[in-house]
Amino acid sequence: MTSFPTDTEQKLMQTAIEASARAYAPYSKFPVGAALHTKDGKVFTGVNVENTSYGLTICAERSAVVSAVSAGETAFDAIAIYAPQATKTLYPCGACLQVLAEFADDMTILTQNGAGKNNKSTLKDLLPSAFKQ
Ligand code: THU
Repeated sequence: MTSFPTDTEQKLMQTAIEASARAYAPYSKFPVGAALHTKDGKVFTGVNVENTSYGLTICAERSAVVSAVSAGETAFDAIAIYAPQATKTLYPCGACLQVLAEFADDMTILTQNGAGKNNKSTLKDLLPSAFKQ
């Protein structure tokens, strides 16, 4: 297991880990927690919230964005995501990358799976050509 270089990144992942315990994922049994870091140092969490009408599910990353924007924050520089049931290297889904790209040209994306495998990438790495109007 690699660890993230900065204290801020480690703390952000710890917040995502704690958030994942609040995920509502009775259908997939794949809880996800996210912690979104604003440029001025605030942190907003999100979890996946599933529904019996499966397609209405919202991912943890988008929950975090909705929470932050609802509080008036739109400048983000990092997000940490944790999924304890993930066995492969974890990445945000394409829909969440597009939603993050609405608010940041680039940002750090930290992930950790259930085996403790960390990954650090950027929004630009994962979505080099986001849709823009
Ligand atoms: N999920 C997320 O919360 N974030 C992602 O980036 C991909 C998937 C959730 C949606 C669903 O509740 C569960 O993980 C399994 O797909």
